[in-house]
Amino acid sequence: MNDSYLKFANSPFGARLARSLGLPKPEVLRRYRADRPEFDGLVAIGAGREPRLLEALANLVASIGVTSVAHESAGLWMPLAHRHGLMTGRFQPAEAGSQGKLAALLFDASGVEDSSQLAPLHAFFHDTLRSLGKCGRIVVLGRPPEACASPRQWTAQRALEGLTRSLGKEARRGITANLVYVARGAEGSAEATLRFFLSPRSAYVSGQVVRIDAGAPGRPAAAAGAPTSPTSPAFDWSQPLAGRRAVVTGAARGIGASIASVLAAEGAHVIGIDIPSARDALDATLRQLNGTALAFDIAAPEAPAQIAAALDEQGVDIVVHNAGITKDKTIAKMTDAAWQSVIDINLGAQERIDDALLAAGILRDGGRIIGVSSISGIAGNPGQTNYATSKAGVIGRVQSMASQLRARGITINAVAPGFIETQMTAKIPLTIREAGRRMNSMSQGGQPVDVAQTIAWLAHPGSAGVTGQIVRVCGQSLIGA
Ligand SMILES: NC(=O)c1ccc[n+]([C@@H]2O[C@H](COP(=O)([O-])OP(=O)(O)OC[C@H]3O[C@@H](n4cnc5c(N)ncnc54)[C@H](O)[C@@H]3O)[C@@H](O)[C@H]2O)c1
Repeated sequence: MNDSYLKFANSPFGARLARSLGLPKPEVLRRYRADRPEFDGLVAIGAGREPRLLEALANLVASIGVTSVAHESAGLWMPLAHRHGLMTGRFQPAEAGSQGKLAALLFDASGVEDSSQLAPLHAFFHDTLRSLGKCGRIVVLGRPPEACASPRQWTAQRALEGLTRSLGKEARRGITANLVYVARGAEGSAEATLRFFLSPRSAYVSGQVVRIDAGAPGRPAAAAGAPTSPTSPAFDWSQPLAGRRAVVTGAARGIGASIASVLAAEGAHVIGIDIPSARDALDATLRQLNGTALAFDIAAPEAPAQIAAALDEQGVDIVVHNAGITKDKTIAKMTDAAWQSVIDINLGAQERIDDALLAAGILRDGGRIIGVSSISGIAGNPGQTNYATSKAGVIGRVQSMASQLRARGITINAVAPGFIETQMTAKIPLTIREAGRRMNSMSQGGQPVDVAQTIAWLAHPGSAGVTGQIVRVCGQSLIGA
């Protein structure tokens, strides 16, 4: 759906009017396009005491081919950058006035062990934030607080959340700010995640906290060193899902069609599922992607067995539970049928399908399960007791199953979209719709592709250490924040 205010506010007249009336000025977000470089511009590096992730950052900077500048807080960066043969220079605070020079700000706070050591974060962002360009990226790196050796270290690492979320709210101009906690031993597994947060693919993901652990002990999806492993120099970052098979439910339209299209663009063979009445749209979507269309009602009792049978021969690597419905009414007016169908399609069907695919080993070891939740499932919403219950259940599934699936190397995560421009949100009454659209750091709704790109990152072979997590795709919505 179109956001006509966004277009208006970005016209010369509209921009002037919005400024004079104090109205929000949503930025036209820079999104990933295959015909444009994914990474360019200068990246400023900052660091706290004894940073442990600079080596990983140097590998990343080398791999994405950007030029770095070292803030004075990152004294170790210059020698390290030279050792890696990176193009690098020193960031001069005097450059702070030169608006928009920087594409990203990266701060390694992994060695911060006490609240008295947080000052370099202030120095770095104080000096650099005004130089960060439109749609720039901020990534703060730390250690998972719960794994810290002392309460003081835990406290200091936990404090990074407040900083990062505030930066996201302060920066505006389409800038995102996210916090990545990298566990000890996971330093070499961070690249796919850092690439995502630095890329235009994460245009509508801000204020999020993601943990990378050392990866599952189970069998990886591809043998180490094989071209399909991101640790191999031959790995093709433009086709990370080559050779993978992905099931996407609700693929006929909206977010599901976009997920199917992004996963296919990254090399996966996509099997799209949707209800029989949406068969024409489903066939049309999957035909374009050289995928496979399966017309099933996922809530039907026989659906799990039918889906398992349809996938059996070749198995599957990625399962995306996207199909979902709303049947909104306040609870006093909500019928049993409206309650039950929403719980059944949005939650029960996911449980039954996963059970069938896992029991028969059709979802291969090293696989990925990704559920689509909602910020309604986090915050609750009047008129959506059924929907919010189902979407909070999706979060519960992720949290309850992550450790049990770890032994098979299978990750399970969920995305929680905020306001996304689709036929589902087009049904919302105008005033509520406008509020949902603007009440976030981007002052606009997201696009289906924003959810799809986030799912593609979670499906990535390099995301083996990301499990049990809920990532909001909401432009840092104030709802449920
Ligand atoms: N649009 C948003 O702002 C938003 C926000 C948060 C979460 N979500 C979630 O994202 C997902 C996709 O939403 P959307 O906006 O693209 O919705 P949509 O209504 O445009 O698409 C949903 C798709 O699921 C299919 N589907 C519904 N019931 C099914 C069933 N029983 N079996 C098989 N397929 C079925 C529909 O036919 C449709 O193609 C949903 O889970 C939704 O709850 C959307």
